[in-house]
Amino acid sequence: MDERQATILLIEDDHANRELLVELLAESTDYRVLQAADARTGFALFAEEKVDLVLLDVMLPDESGFNLCRRMKSVSRIFVPIILVTALHELSDKVKGLEAGADDFLTKPILREELLARSQSHLRTKRMMDRIDRYRSELSLFNQRLQEQVEIRTRQLQTALAELRTAKEEVERTRVEIVERLGIAAEYRDEWTGQHIRRMALYVWEISVACGLPPEQAELFRLVAPLHDIGKMGVRDHVLLKPEQLEEGEVDLIREHTRIGAQILADPRTELIEVAGEMARHHHERWDGQGYPDGLKGEEIPLSARICSVADVFDALTSSRVYRADAYQVLEARSEIMAGAGTRFDPRVTEAFARAFDKIQEIWEQSR
Ligand SMILES: [Fe+2]
Repeated sequence: MDERQATILLIEDDHANRELLVELLAESTDYRVLQAADARTGFALFAEEKVDLVLLDVMLPDESGFNLCRRMKSVSRIFVPIILVTALHELSDKVKGLEAGADDFLTKPILREELLARSQSHLRTKRMMDRIDRYRSELSLFNQRLQEQVEIRTRQLQTALAELRTAKEEVERTRVEIVERLGIAAEYRDEWTGQHIRRMALYVWEISVACGLPPEQAELFRLVAPLHDIGKMGVRDHVLLKPEQLEEGEVDLIREHTRIGAQILADPRTELIEVAGEMARHHHERWDGQGYPDGLKGEEIPLSARICSVADVFDALTSSRVYRADAYQVLEARSEIMAGAGTRFDPRVTEAFARAFDKIQEIWEQSR
């Protein structure tokens, strides 16, 4: 609503009354007055113009003022005050007017002061209501924009997260693959298929889980298992690939692969390489202290190496290698592992091996 000039719609069939009201209102320069002599014209003006206040005669030739009031209230989306102008004094008419949605009444004969005071009062209310409406629509627009921004940002964040997840998975896959291929490289001369490496890693996983280790630790052991014999890279071919029985000095050269492996993996910068290093160095230690290279005993031997040891020996007993052409049958291999409990192997690990045996056997069968 214009702060300086309000528009008043005057609907009154009586010409003299209309003239009077226009005259009274004209004394105030604030108002623009639209006139209608019947309900039809009045309603049309109400619908077309931006009306701020309606002065509505109750007795109109084509429709009752009450009904017109109701119609105007029902089509208007914003607040427009309606003052019923009536010659009636009956209480029932006021009730009818209120029911029709009228905001006030003026009783004929109309007094100038009353007309102006009431008009001004309702126009003030109208101004406030308009302001509230404006704030409300601005707020709703603001909320809508905010919502759109939130949706855009959420989508961007989701995309970024998905990309990050993909990148993380890629890094993880690369890490696993590099470790595995490095292990294959180490075994390449005597185990060209890389099957030993893959089986070993799966055995280590199953035994670790059966030992009751948390999945993250079992996963770490599985990841580094392919590197346990990486030190073989440093063992000469004529010793490593010798099909005949090794002589004493040659056995020592083979055993050196544990120290060489530990050297390759020395000064680790990650937990992965640290565990790989201890597994590489100690996977030929024995529970009774008769192993190599350090002769560690019992729990002095890192758990990763104790688990690796069982998996490694079991795989050696059940696969064909240059120095062991005839593979043991898997059940015989199992008995041999169990027979080593407490001497060669940690009894807790052999028990876990026995518990995981069905799954281990499955892995063995699938890799044949
Ligand atoms: Fe080894």
